[in-house]
Amino acid sequence: MHRPFDTECIRADFPILRTEINGNPLVYLDNAATSQKPQAVIDAVDGFYRTTNGNIHRGVHHLSQAATDAYDCARATVARFIGAADPHEIVFIRGATEGINLVAHGLAECLLREGDEILLTRMEHHANIVPWQMAARKTGARIVVADVTPDGRIDLEDFCRKLGPRTRIAAFMHVSNALGTIHPAEEMICRARQAGAVVLLDACQSAPHFRIDVSALGCDFLVFSGHKVFGPTGIGVLYGKGDWLARLPVYQTGGDMVDRVSFEDGTTFRDAPEKFEAGTPDIAGAIGLAAACDYLDRVGSGHIEAAEKELLAHVTPRLKEIPGLKLYGDVDRKVPVLSFTLDGVHPHDIGTILDADGIAIRAGHHCAQPLMRHYGIAGTARASFAFYNTVEEADALVASVRKIAKMFA
Ligand SMILES: Cc1ncc(COP(=O)(O)O)c(C=O)c1O
Repeated sequence: MHRPFDTECIRADFPILRTEINGNPLVYLDNAATSQKPQAVIDAVDGFYRTTNGNIHRGVHHLSQAATDAYDCARATVARFIGAADPHEIVFIRGATEGINLVAHGLAECLLREGDEILLTRMEHHANIVPWQMAARKTGARIVVADVTPDGRIDLEDFCRKLGPRTRIAAFMHVSNALGTIHPAEEMICRARQAGAVVLLDACQSAPHFRIDVSALGCDFLVFSGHKVFGPTGIGVLYGKGDWLARLPVYQTGGDMVDRVSFEDGTTFRDAPEKFEAGTPDIAGAIGLAAACDYLDRVGSGHIEAAEKELLAHVTPRLKEIPGLKLYGDVDRKVPVLSFTLDGVHPHDIGTILDADGIAIRAGHHCAQPLMRHYGIAGTARASFAFYNTVEEADALVASVRKIAKMFA
């Protein structure tokens, strides 16, 4: 158990942070792409394979039962972590992308008709655009796009104006992966539901930074990925209100999700969440994800938010002082994601030169091409912080970016 705000103590929990890159200590600032894993998560996955590995829901033997218990327990932990009323509202999937595909596919079958509207925003990650385009193509529904403000927020007035009697679905992100801006999700969900729309919230970039409470948010569906919340890759969470999961048709079929299979009488399916989990799931991944939730609970969301707020307040003005640097998403309500361009320097060159200094950032369009087009740019350099980053690392970023600005001046 560590003392609050002891960053060094927290960093000791993450073995990879001791890595050196090109003779420099690793400064990992690509947390929006994927986060690093604490020893507790590594141990949980390792421990499962060492002591508990068996297939779930199938065997009468000890290991199968132990694995089943651990998997079910992981579902209950995740439910508690996001404030779901019941573990049966948690579907384990491969990641947010699969979750959105599952919902879009299901709603295309059971809800959408020709002329219906699906309201998205111009900021969405491609994972929350393309599955809806496919659903629209299949059903004759229409995609409607709410605009963004020049400073990188969702234009709430435009969003509300575009909610109409034909809006069946509203799907939007909680926090922008490209800019870090936090959207007024509670209000958007409330307005969309008042308009009669089913709401999916993409919590990929909010869940790593602050406490998500699906009961308070009131959304019908919510998705996030394990690897962005300090858990393993290949596992994610789809939360769905019980009645929606009951109504949604199956997505993939095969073993374990079935009730009875007969060549004569056809096949019947299990109830949710099992009906959406065909085949052997990522059992170790679910257990690792639950360990990540427990770890974040131990650190405390209040401490995480305070530490990240301090980092953001430290780095933002220092970056903005650099000649030729333009910061996108420079607003009050944001998580510590700094997305910027430097006059005359390609974002990929920024990323490559920073890497030589041991600093890992992301450069490009961040799977948000419509947003980049809106700003008239090909991409940005994005430094995204987590609670284990330090003020010294922020200073190292600023010094390296300043050096690049001078090199290209
Ligand atoms: C806002 C947002 N939505 C969806 C995704 C897709 O997540 P995954 O690739 O883990 O499925 C990401 C990943 O970058 C994201 O940032």
